[in-house]
Amino acid sequence: MLDQTILSILKEQDQQLFDLVLREETRQHEQIRLIPSENYASPAVKAALATSFTNKYGEGYPGRRYYQGQVNTDALELMVIERAKALFGYPHANVQALSGAPANLGVYTAFLKPFEGKIMAMRLDHGGHLTHGSPVSVTGQWFEILSYGCNENDVLDYEEIRRQALEFKPDVLVCGYTAYPRLIDFEKFGEIAREVGAISLADVSHIAGLIAGGAHPSPWPHMDVVTFTTHKTLRGPRAAIILAKDADMMDRIDKAVFPGLQGGPHFNTIAAIGVALGEAASPAFKDYSHQVVANAKKLGEELKVRGHHVVSGGTENHLLLLDVRKSHKLPGKRVAVALEEVGIVLNFNTVPNASDRQKPLFPDGIRLGTPSITTRGMKETDMVRLASLIDRTINNLKTGKISEGESAWKDDDEAVTIAAAVRELATSFPTFAW
Ligand SMILES: Cc1ncc(COP(=O)(O)O)c(C=O)c1O
Repeated sequence: MLDQTILSILKEQDQQLFDLVLREETRQHEQIRLIPSENYASPAVKAALATSFTNKYGEGYPGRRYYQGQVNTDALELMVIERAKALFGYPHANVQALSGAPANLGVYTAFLKPFEGKIMAMRLDHGGHLTHGSPVSVTGQWFEILSYGCNENDVLDYEEIRRQALEFKPDVLVCGYTAYPRLIDFEKFGEIAREVGAISLADVSHIAGLIAGGAHPSPWPHMDVVTFTTHKTLRGPRAAIILAKDADMMDRIDKAVFPGLQGGPHFNTIAAIGVALGEAASPAFKDYSHQVVANAKKLGEELKVRGHHVVSGGTENHLLLLDVRKSHKLPGKRVAVALEEVGIVLNFNTVPNASDRQKPLFPDGIRLGTPSITTRGMKETDMVRLASLIDRTINNLKTGKISEGESAWKDDDEAVTIAAAVRELATSFPTFAW
């Protein structure tokens, strides 16, 4: 829960805002949050966000600022850079990127000229991110893109990726995904990039916490550049870190981030990143990251035995994709909306090798992840209960067309019973527990 002092200050001064904060706190406590890119930041991370570092401006980098008064902000930024380097084993780090999308843009613009550069990355509907060259993102509009995908088993085919890379000759080869449930072989990606003369970029936004805790192999020393958000499995504030293998690359990236793309860094966020990195270096975080994966595996197995189509047959990380069209003839969106009605919050998602009907806004699947519920302290036994509640919800949905105003439930009472059980399961865990 938010620090009581901070809450009471807010309550005294701005009741309207306080009410909203309280409602969101309650929602996050009473619902089961399965969005794989979300988590619960610790009270210390939230406290750092609320410090006086929010008052300071400091365009530039430590020792090279455009403003005076940097004695503490320089020390802060240098400390957080050192923590990032130590945790991920890379010799250079930038902690100023405001979030994941600007971090990726920073890397592209560091190395590529608009309308000349070539990027090869995973297609959006197979699990890539918008900033990996989607036509609706500037990354897809400014650069020539070749998208690779999963094979018929919904997994990466490294030989096929190599063949495509040899033909396309990208300047930047990207791995790291938004919706891919398997381990990434960074060594293979590094080899392919070197063979075709590309810079290798691992966007490990989703799995940064797993890498930090040793629950996923590290991109070091295989990938040239690594980007990641700090607010997903890493459990920090909403921001990003960029790591680079050599000083020249880092220098180009630093310049691309500032003054290329951004103004002054958000020092309160950088302070909170520092706290999160400190937490991620603890033995407790190692246990947490392994439990995240154990919970995802168990949830996948339990759903599979109940007849759900788990994309790629299971998971090796923190997330699962279910193809609900294949298993239950249901559209992903109907399932996601219904699950929210009973208190289980996740997102509808495209899945690889889907039906012809799949569109980004009407996909065939849903995406589930265990970072948040593991932070709350849930274990494998709780995954059995959760799988049963998800299964009952999905089986209680009507298939086929539903007319305007018609209930999607086969049985409204069953939906109410499930919602009560979800609330009971959720509230039996705190919203932050180590
Ligand atoms: C792989 C990946 N890269 C980048 C981003 C973008 O991060 P942000 O939303 O912080 O800009 C995301 C966000 O979901 C992501 O999953």
